[in-house]
Amino acid sequence: MIVGVLKEARDGEKRVAATPATIEQVRKLGYEVVVDPGAGAAAGFTDSAYEAAGARIGDAVAADVVLGVNAPGPGQLDGVRPEATVIALFAPAFDPAMVEDLGRRPFTALSVDAVPRISRAQSMDVLSSMANIAGYRAVVEAAHEFGRFFTGQVTAAGKVPPARVLVAGAGVAGLAAIGTAGSLGAVVRATDPRPEVADQVRSLGGEYLSIASAEVEVSKTGYAKEMGDDYKAREAELYAAQCREADIVITTALIPGRPAPVLITAEMVAGMKPGSVVVDMAAANGGNVVGTVKGARTVTENGVTILGYTDLAGRLPAQASQLYGTNLVNLLKLMTPDKDGRLVLDWDDPVQRSITVVRDGASAWPPPPVQVSAAPAPAPPVPAATEPAVRKPPTAGRRFGAVALAALLLFLAAGFAPAALLPHLTVFVLAIVIGYYVIGHVHHALHTPLMSVTNAISGIIVVGALLQIGHGSTVVTVLSAVAILLASINVFGGFAVTRRMLAMFNRS
Ligand code: NAI
Repeated sequence: MIVGVLKEARDGEKRVAATPATIEQVRKLGYEVVVDPGAGAAAGFTDSAYEAAGARIGDAVAADVVLGVNAPGPGQLDGVRPEATVIALFAPAFDPAMVEDLGRRPFTALSVDAVPRISRAQSMDVLSSMANIAGYRAVVEAAHEFGRFFTGQVTAAGKVPPARVLVAGAGVAGLAAIGTAGSLGAVVRATDPRPEVADQVRSLGGEYLSIASAEVEVSKTGYAKEMGDDYKAREAELYAAQCREADIVITTALIPGRPAPVLITAEMVAGMKPGSVVVDMAAANGGNVVGTVKGARTVTENGVTILGYTDLAGRLPAQASQLYGTNLVNLLKLMTPDKDGRLVLDWDDPVQRSITVVRDGASAWPPPPVQVSAAPAPAPPVPAATEPAVRKPPTAGRRFGAVALAALLLFLAAGFAPAALLPHLTVFVLAIVIGYYVIGHVHHALHTPLMSVTNAISGIIVVGALLQIGHGSTVVTVLSAVAILLASINVFGGFAVTRRMLAMFNRS
């Protein structure tokens, strides 16, 4: 079969459904590929780069499998062959007119924005891929508007405080925004009605602001539900207080199937400092902020800039096309079980069923609901206060008590232990103290490479075995040789794993 890559019809769209790199993967599945002339130009992919990847430049709409980012334009849809399959973001949940239009057409239409958020479909989850990029870009846009540093600095010309960033909603986009703002040096706070995201926020260096309400509970679906009045009242108090302090507010709150919840009122915006920036990522869905203009930049009377851009992922077109294209490759892999260049739609597969809007000309929308299996593990009870749910460090008294107790135990052990044990005991205690301070100061992201490099401790077995080898019976020699082999695997394997992990942190 031939896979066609469309030139996007929507004004201002810079993304493309396949890059030269993803085309190579599509071809490995047995397909021929044809790309519309100039399809990737806006994302920086030239026709010659597609040709070098093995594609032909031609009329993509006439292919057997037509790939697009947005729904193809009416002219393009008219050109699709009856037995073809079109794969794009049709947004059937938000666009009933599109569903109706597709229902009148003879081909098969698959909408990848309907991929269910279940574990096995993660590699095809285009919404998460785009939300991740959009969360990053939201911070970049905010930084561009904000007239100051994100990171705090002490300079000869004075001290600069770090920017304070508030992220409302810690889903895919929110977590990407938290990570990006944190890596630029800002002080980041985030809130979300799903308490299970607290650890994820903290792991990205943010501070999780919990809202004490009986309504807060761990989500069974991975999505938030519509919250009640008690939660909304407490949430409003928190946002009002946080907005007064924040320099940047990024809102990403979403409840599936509903308009975006309004979190930031006009009064809260009026209470923000001049020069502050709000990025309302939910602008396309009604907005989380009163005063957002969909797709536009506005500045309020008190000098707060509100960005309602709805094309944040498309503002990084090369990256977005690469991830979107990879998601489509993973979908094609699923639908090409024999890797023979033949697309087979498996109606019994929940992922394929969920994305089918029209099958061979018959409307298949809406699909039956999918049981989301990604229910997280039960979370600990929600803290009762509105303060940030951060584990408090032990008080000075407690710490002193613990040290005194440890010292007492040490003296007792020293008093009663045989003299030969004392040096070992001393080394043991020093090892604990040094280990505590050394490991305690290593960033938690580096703990795994640290542990793998400590495999080198098996070197002591190698030394012991070398001393034994050839000096005892054959059994001892054989055992020593085996010990050297196994311990060496452990040591070198540990170094290899550490090297690979550290390479992930290497910017080059
Ligand atoms: P998601 O479903 O992963 O995350 C949404 C989060 O909002 C969830 O964690 C949910 O618990 C939270 N939430 C719900 N009610 C809340 C409340 N009252 N207060 C605080 N948090 C609340 O969704 P995802 O993929 O992260 O997308 C977030 C938003 O960004 C969506 O509205 C999406 O349409 C939008 N988006 C915008 C783009 C743009 O260019 N502007 C591009 C991509 C996504």
